[in-house]
Amino acid sequence: GREAKLQLVQRHVRAFPDFPKKGIVFRDICPILKDAAALKAVIDLFEEHVRNNHQHVDLIVGLDARGFLFGPLLAQRLGIGFVPVRKKGKLPGATVSVSYDLEYGKAEAEIQEDAVAPGQKVLLIDDLLATGGTLYAASELMRKQQAEVLGCMVVIELKELNGTDKLKPHRVFSLIQY
Ligand code: PRP
Ligand code: ADE
Repeated sequence: GREAKLQLVQRHVRAFPDFPKKGIVFRDICPILKDAAALKAVIDLFEEHVRNNHQHVDLIVGLDARGFLFGPLLAQRLGIGFVPVRKKGKLPGATVSVSYDLEYGKAEAEIQEDAVAPGQKVLLIDDLLATGGTLYAASELMRKQQAEVLGCMVVIELKELNGTDKLKPHRVFSLIQY
């Protein structure tokens, strides 16, 4: 059932204090990837959420880099396509970009100009929500391209950083909260 799957996922997240900087507790999802059942549970839970909450989704939009680990698996499961939002300078051709702040730094996010069409309905996916800066940047890219963000999905949500406030009015679905 759902509870057993959530517990399986939870058991496959490790905490590393003071990485990559002092004061940050880094939540490592690599054990999920290494365990076939835990990874399947993540995709099962995401799929269930999408099927229960969204009638029609055109694309899954995933964040560089760890959103790429889950996004294409979910998109494939749903029978739809995947679009990568990358860090600046990695994508060829015409691009659209936006800069943003992180829990531990600053970065710039970019998509290919033709990645999404006006009016397309998309779900944003990443491994983890901290300040919300990364997912907010992705939502800004979608706004610029006139795509409709149906919601955000993450494996882990760090509650104390209030990332969900930054993402309003977009809804955030998370599997694990700290
Ligand atoms: C991490 C994480 C999220 C983001 C969350 O990625 O994978 O994408 O930070 O933080 P925020 O909510 O404060 O924006 P990071 O930028 O460290 O890059 P990586 O995926 O390349 O490791
Ligand atoms: N990205 C931003 N904050 C993070 C954290 N505490 N653990 C893992 N990834 C992160």
